[in-house]
Amino acid sequence: MVIAPYMSGFQTLSDPIPELVLEVQGNLPLWLSGTLLRTGPAKFDLGKQTVNHWFDGLSLLQRFSFHNGRITYAADFLRSEAYNKAAQEKRLRSNEFGTNPPLSLLERLMAVLTLPKTDNGNVNIARLNDHYLSLTETPFPVEFNPQTLSTVSAFTFADNLKGQITTAHPQYDLVDGSAYNLLTNVSTTSHYQFYHLRPGSQKRHLIASLPVAQPGYIHSFALTQSYIVLFEFPLLLNPLELLFSGKPYIENYHWHKNKTTRIFVIDKTNGTLVFSSQSDPCFAFHHANAYEENGSIVVDLIAYEDPAIIQAFYLNKVGSANIPQARLRRYTISPTNKKIVWQFKTDSSLEMPALNSACYAGRKYRYLYGAAPHFQGDFFSSLIKLDLQNENELSWSEKDIYTGEPTFIQAPNTSIADTLNNEIEDQGVILTLCLDTKKSKSVLIMIDAQSMQEIGRAYLPVTIPFALHGQFFPHQ
Ligand SMILES: [Fe+2]
Repeated sequence: MVIAPYMSGFQTLSDPIPELVLEVQGNLPLWLSGTLLRTGPAKFDLGKQTVNHWFDGLSLLQRFSFHNGRITYAADFLRSEAYNKAAQEKRLRSNEFGTNPPLSLLERLMAVLTLPKTDNGNVNIARLNDHYLSLTETPFPVEFNPQTLSTVSAFTFADNLKGQITTAHPQYDLVDGSAYNLLTNVSTTSHYQFYHLRPGSQKRHLIASLPVAQPGYIHSFALTQSYIVLFEFPLLLNPLELLFSGKPYIENYHWHKNKTTRIFVIDKTNGTLVFSSQSDPCFAFHHANAYEENGSIVVDLIAYEDPAIIQAFYLNKVGSANIPQARLRRYTISPTNKKIVWQFKTDSSLEMPALNSACYAGRKYRYLYGAAPHFQGDFFSSLIKLDLQNENELSWSEKDIYTGEPTFIQAPNTSIADTLNNEIEDQGVILTLCLDTKKSKSVLIMIDAQSMQEIGRAYLPVTIPFALHGQFFPHQ
């Protein structure tokens, strides 16, 4: 079997990388000042056990700091409880996404009493007040120091909200700065619970609690200025199976191809279920954006026909160049007419959606960026920019380079109001950490967001495994 060249991006990184100054080729804008923090799976081989799935790898934190045309870089493992125990025993001691620890019969019987409780924050980064957190899909964030990348401690919320499963994609209200997220409580009577956190607070306020017999696998949700929108794809969990099957977390979810996608629209101020309906079955990890227009709610999803993408990311399959394609679907939900319609917004495949979220999250927007395959079935090997108004697209790619999540950074000295008034939504740069398989090194590529032309790049000394998500924090 031919091994895809990008497989070096799915191999274990053994050691942290102490801070170093990167050599910049090209022209880095002098206004670019801030820190890009990223997390992703990076340790797959634990010594006595190798994990099964990309999403099981132990988290590596990465930091790119930009100041006066200079870039410094460092990477270190998140010393979560999952990491520390795995490092000690050279095998997992926590239930991960697609791999469980090898357990004796007695250990298995005891494990039945507890739900998966990993704190391996390998999915996304969030800043909550002054706390920098590494997130996964359990409600156990781990705080780290954004300067040194050293792990601080487990982060605890100041409330008693109960639940076992969350998303690593909290959504933010640009007007009041509140964060919103979903916390699913799995039991004999399970509930989808939406909460918000006000700026300065660590106390989650429950907004809405929707009973559900078989919770869906929910990786993200949508937030507009007035509403929370939940898409429940028919990849459903039997709660008892999660408790008693002994199978890895994701294997307890089952695809019901004859069921529908259920859609719930919740008033985010008072938690009222404003509207619920159904649409065709599909699957998505990511919502691109959502907004309100003329009494309707528009939701953009990066949708697959089914959840085969989860299977494709098992480490023994990801190199087969047979990765399912996702396309941008635009749903228009009209609560007054009790109608939902959807259409494809592009023929191209894309994932890891990004936009000018500092100004346009929850608002009508025009430009969407994403990582895309260069040919059908390939891993991400280009970056695309969709103009959703004129329905055309631009792209960037280079032979032997595989891409990652793009991050859009707004050019400075522009307030949200100025940006919205002057329609300068795409004035800024795109940062994306790529893998150059010819040089066997990871490389940060910097792209002008308007033209999608490269403006500069900076090579790392080694190959860093493909990360998942990150966030940019401007220097203040
Ligand atoms: Fe994600």
